[in-house]
Amino acid sequence: MKQIKIHDKSFGISISSESIQDRVSIIAQQLNKEYAEDTPLFIVVLNGAFVFAADLFKRLTIECEISFVKISSYQGMESTGILNELIGLSENIHCRKIVIIEDIIDSGNTIEKMINELIKEKPAEVKVATMLFKPEAFKKTYSIDYIGFEIPNDFVVGYGLDYDGLGRNLPDIYKTI
Ligand code: IMP
Ligand code: MG
Repeated sequence: MKQIKIHDKSFGISISSESIQDRVSIIAQQLNKEYAEDTPLFIVVLNGAFVFAADLFKRLTIECEISFVKISSYQGMESTGILNELIGLSENIHCRKIVIIEDIIDSGNTIEKMINELIKEKPAEVKVATMLFKPEAFKKTYSIDYIGFEIPNDFVVGYGLDYDGLGRNLPDIYKTI
């Protein structure tokens, strides 16, 4: 198994780049179908989701817009639960169809905060597309509309996800071993 070291931790491959790309294509097809008659606004949660967003966006054939926001609840390997405000959204989202693009949904704190901030502006709807979802860690009742892969409660890096700043550039997804 391909192994890498980041800071003090060893990681082994969890999801290959090929599997990720196949899955992204399927999600793009679903979005192209669902939003064929609309001009949705994709809201990308920085930093981690930028890689997934770029791969997904290139495969969208519908008319659509994209915007990037920042919100953070994570430091190192454990969710701190500390949440910052939503920054960077300049578009008027009133009556718009919104799709939030996330890298990973863990406890669900970040996505819940995002949704709560967005619905204040009365969009037509808010859906969520995430590359990774940890069902065992998820503490919310909100349903996630598009999921790349459900994964166990491991800490993962790569494909936009970092461990204390490193690993975002890896094309595959790795987990701690
Ligand atoms: P949540 O608020 O607990 O759902 O955490 C969401 C955020 O924590 C994600 O957007 C990531 O930035 C970060 N995160 C959660 N799990 C991992 C992981 O396994 N590796 C790297 N970052 C993670
Ligand atoms: Mg994130």
